Amino acid sequence: MYSASNYLCSAKFLSAMLIGLQDLTFEFGARVIVENATWHIHPGERIGLIGYNGTGKSTLLKVLVGEYLPSKGTVEKGRDTTIGYLHQDLLSFDTNDSILEVAMGAFERVKQLEKEIEKLGKELEETSDEKLLIVYTDKLHELEVLGGYNIHHKTEEVLQGLGFENEHLLRPYKEFSGGWRMRVLLAKMILQQPDVLLLDEPTNHLDLPSIEWLEKYLQHYQGSVVIVSHDKYFLNRMVNKIVELYQQELHIYTGDYEFYEKEKQIRIELQQRAYENQKDYIRQQERFIERFKAKASKAAAAQSAMKRLDKIERIEQVEIERPNIRINFQVDKQPGRVICELKHITKSFGDIKIVENAHAEINRGDKIALIGANGKGKSTLLRIIAGTEKYEGERNWGHNVEESFYAQHQLEALNVNNTILEEMKECGSNKTELELRSLLGCFLFSGDDSDKKIKVLSGGEKARVALAKVIVSRSNFLLLDEPTNHLDMHSVELLAESLNKYEGSYLLVSHDRFFISKTANKIWEIVDHEVKEFKGTYTEWVEWKKRMEERKRTLAKEESKSAETPAPKPVTSNKQPATASQPQPINTNKKELQRLQKQFQGVEDQVAQLNQKKEQAELDLASPDSYKNPAQFAQLEKDYKTVQQQLTVAVKQYEELFEKIMELEK
Ligand SMILES: Nc1ncnc2c1ncn2[C@@H]1O[C@H](COP(=O)(O)OP(=O)(O)OP(=O)(O)O)[C@@H](O)[C@H]1O
Ligand SMILES: [Mg+2]
Repeated sequence: MYSASNYLCSAKFLSAMLIGLQDLTFEFGARVIVENATWHIHPGERIGLIGYNGTGKSTLLKVLVGEYLPSKGTVEKGRDTTIGYLHQDLLSFDTNDSILEVAMGAFERVKQLEKEIEKLGKELEETSDEKLLIVYTDKLHELEVLGGYNIHHKTEEVLQGLGFENEHLLRPYKEFSGGWRMRVLLAKMILQQPDVLLLDEPTNHLDLPSIEWLEKYLQHYQGSVVIVSHDKYFLNRMVNKIVELYQQELHIYTGDYEFYEKEKQIRIELQQRAYENQKDYIRQQERFIERFKAKASKAAAAQSAMKRLDKIERIEQVEIERPNIRINFQVDKQPGRVICELKHITKSFGDIKIVENAHAEINRGDKIALIGANGKGKSTLLRIIAGTEKYEGERNWGHNVEESFYAQHQLEALNVNNTILEEMKECGSNKTELELRSLLGCFLFSGDDSDKKIKVLSGGEKARVALAKVIVSRSNFLLLDEPTNHLDMHSVELLAESLNKYEGSYLLVSHDRFFISKTANKIWEIVDHEVKEFKGTYTEWVEWKKRMEERKRTLAKEESKSAETPAPKPVTSNKQPATASQPQPINTNKKELQRLQKQFQGVEDQVAQLNQKKEQAELDLASPDSYKNPAQFAQLEKDYKTVQQQLTVAVKQYEELFEKIMELEK
């Protein structure tokens, strides 16, 4: 029967708190990070912890997991609550252990049990102590309950789910890039299945496909999640509650990021109105007191008005505090037309090929975004250009080019034992200390802040130091690898603005769609180990990609249609980009256009034939007879691969021709 006590119990369970802060104050020396904060995390909550750079979000997570102790108040934690914590500074963890071992760290208890069981087993070989035997069987039972016999397999499965190939599982963790390390640590957490996940800026290290993967995973995650992030889009999809750390207080909003933005505006307006109303009231009372305090008949009333005024809790005027960094990229010298030329560049890491015989040119005025998935070699290409990575081929600098490189792990490259000022001095500009301090002021390190050690800086603060180092060089060409990582949204906007004003050229890598669309006039991609250039903005590139996808789909449809008919006809006219009704190109291009169209027809025919061949090969492979003879099967498989390769080449050619024709028809 469903009793009242049952109900109470489940209601209690629903409102149970997993972990929380009660009247908590935390400070670093004289700097208060948070004051009298109360915040409880309940089961099933998905919380976005937000705030400008340096407000103390990472610190707060460290307080929650017990890495830091509060100066006042308490951290409360359910007796059985388990926590998974992903540190903002991923690269601070480094090890020679294989990624399989790192992920298997999730099973600490199982590993400990295994050791204990082994030890007990040995002891039992020598004695037949009954008590020892009971302990031994208990431990065996616990191991079984924990699924201990299965951990190897489970770990492999999760890592493979996250995109790791089987043969990589035994490679050392330290050989992997940020994005992949992040996945290993995530795999560990998934295997631990904690009640609360605390993720400090998880998207900083991920490319778009991995962010999408993480989104899907988190959407199905049963436990509670706290995410620190500056990615508006990600937050909107992931959370249903926002906790903002602002002016040393926690402000709670029960909604997603969009709700927070609207609600915050309303709260600001309300506070401003309340402030103005109170100001009017105080002014009126003060006038009353002024007028009547000397008048005997009204003196008592004036007195009590004065007391009332003293007691009033003053509403503060709304002052919006924002970290307005002032970034001003300047150029010392004008370079020639060509900034940098890459010829026949080839680069591989072992058997992983990055680029092969690649060519590219960067010209004055180019503002290029290099985009693409993790592991395609974006950072490697940047390092090749910067000269910090070995390569085969030619890299030629243009006249008067002065480059400056903001590397992906720039933050980790800062010397943590330096103060900010020392770090700036070491980067070799001829600036005086006064000049450097004033530059640091633009990056919001005023007065004593410049003497802070790098090791205590927040992620965003370190990013600001690294940017200041780029700026001090006054270079005319910048190589920027993930410059928006760790920066809060407001600072990202300011950085985009200043890059727009910058007179030099740059090549940047970023996964931030907003930022790329604001800063690039060309898009580079590494496709088939070559550098592909698109002359246009990111928005134009996205539209172009969409068009190409549609083309491909139409083509595939047409091909399957034509394959159904006994004698496949060559391309139908609606697939051709040029139709009679379309405006004709100017004379000079006409011949070229005709030539291309002819070529286009030919390639289309070829694609149609190859598609047919491929279908036949698929049929042959699927036939049960083919399995009977291994040699025949191997041959069929080989044929299939060949035709597939030929088709890829033909489709690529088809797309290129199509683009050229479109270009000429403009
Ligand atoms: N050990 C420390 N000693 C002194 N100050 C510190 C220490 N650790 C952090 N701070 C300072 O405390 C402030 C909060 O740092 P924290 O890393 O929590 O910020 P954050 O909100 O996570 O910022 P970001 O968005 O940039 O990651 C920063 O100004 C930082 O410089
Ligand atoms: Mg932080």
